[in-house]
Amino acid sequence: MTQHSQSTKDKMKALSELGFSSREIAKLVLGSETKKSSVNRVLASGGKSVKPKKDTEDNSRILFISDLHIPYHHPDSFTFLRHLKEKYKPTRVICLGDELDKHSLSYHESDPDLYSAGHELDASIPFIHELEEIFPKMDILESNHGSLVWRKAKTNGIPKHYIKSYNDVLGVGKGWKWHFDMTLDLPDGTQCYVHHGKASDVLKLSQQMGMSAVQGHYHTDLGARFWANPNGLYFGMQCGCLIDRESYAFAYSNVNIKKQLIGTGLIIDSLPIVEPMILNERGEWKKR
Ligand SMILES: [Fe+2]
Repeated sequence: MTQHSQSTKDKMKALSELGFSSREIAKLVLGSETKKSSVNRVLASGGKSVKPKKDTEDNSRILFISDLHIPYHHPDSFTFLRHLKEKYKPTRVICLGDELDKHSLSYHESDPDLYSAGHELDASIPFIHELEEIFPKMDILESNHGSLVWRKAKTNGIPKHYIKSYNDVLGVGKGWKWHFDMTLDLPDGTQCYVHHGKASDVLKLSQQMGMSAVQGHYHTDLGARFWANPNGLYFGMQCGCLIDRESYAFAYSNVNIKKQLIGTGLIIDSLPIVEPMILNERGEWKKR
């Protein structure tokens, strides 16, 4: 990971305070728009000199949880996740974000036939608690849906200090930890970048980051592809989603030919595994 001098960090912080986006700051200070993740990292640290934390978790068997969009998740998605837990015995669980839909809080127009913001939260909490019972320890990526309350607060000029933490809102324990992005140290010595959804082409993201990459967000993309350079073999993996395609919350996607792909992904012994959730003609999970 590139270490920036304190003066570079100060420039980034100053431009951010003037309202420049991470992309613009990356172009102005680092000479390339694609380095905006580097800017985000500096800004997330408050512009202070911090050493990247070493990843000390056991990453030998990682289960990813793709976009659930609770309470509009697939009715069999939790059974499917319990099955994957039993089958792969994950040493680490990472939720890729969009754990909640927050449809009624969206910046897009909301459907009056769906829940209001309060009802949606009430309806979601029991599912969140069930998910915590299955996975008491979990890393979660910040995301466009999951972080809607924070995003709305920012839009309306409300400082973070006034907002409850994700753990407090959902009533979950300290075992659930939220991250902007993550860099995992895999057992074979390679690294893997994890983000909710930074680029529509995850293979390109992997090449730009110089390490493997895993994403959620792109509901119609489920799969893993490899690439190599003289130094090693890397992969990009998209994990699909675990939504209920029949829900009104996803009516917007009816205009698309591409349908959402239901499933998720894992990294087992440093290699990606894709697990599609095969559905029968009634849309129920067909356990194989
Ligand atoms: Fe999503």
